[in-house]
Amino acid sequence: MSHAQKVHFEQPKEFKFSAANMKKIESHVAKYPKGRQASAVMPLLDLAQNQNDGWIPEAAMEEIGRILGMPRIKVFEVATFYTMYNLQPKGKHHIQFCTTTPCWLNGSAEVVSACEKHLGIKLGETTPDGNFSLSEVECLGACVNAPVAQRNGDDFYEDLTPENAVKVLDALKAGKKPAHGSQTGRTTSMGVKGATCLHEQAEKCGVKKC
Ligand code: FES
Repeated sequence: MSHAQKVHFEQPKEFKFSAANMKKIESHVAKYPKGRQASAVMPLLDLAQNQNDGWIPEAAMEEIGRILGMPRIKVFEVATFYTMYNLQPKGKHHIQFCTTTPCWLNGSAEVVSACEKHLGIKLGETTPDGNFSLSEVECLGACVNAPVAQRNGDDFYEDLTPENAVKVLDALKAGKKPAHGSQTGRTTSMGVKGATCLHEQAEKCGVKKC
């Protein structure tokens, strides 16, 4: 049985960008021709999320619509399309698992299942201590090192297995910073059997064992 925290949260009635963020907004808007300010919607959503503890309230989307002169629904459409935008509070470590075909073929379902079991929550839920939220996302762009998960949109953990994924969770829980990238010791995206060609080039790039 899941012991996930029921996420009760209130939508703030108002949202105003800080003075520092208003300056950043000006520079984002200035990148686009007059009348095309709506093109700046994505960086503004990102600013709102960072200003508001990692999630974007509806009032912020309204404010963005007002600033950019675009209908509120258009801001909602962008915010709800991309999984990098959180529309409700998330745990301290928001782990997003890629479950798209290459990751799935390499065992993402088993990785997700092991992490759910270890934390006692399901995808879309948050642990009662607020430490972890788990989500499922589409391709994270690191398919050659599938399966892949990212934390808080920054840190990538690759070549995951049920065992090493749980170790990553335990390290995060203990306040450590697990190494990014391959969790099996692979050098960047080198073939699992090691380099089989281009040895000289690999050595020039600092890869010692070919
Ligand atoms: S399919 Fe998982 S990173 Fe691309």
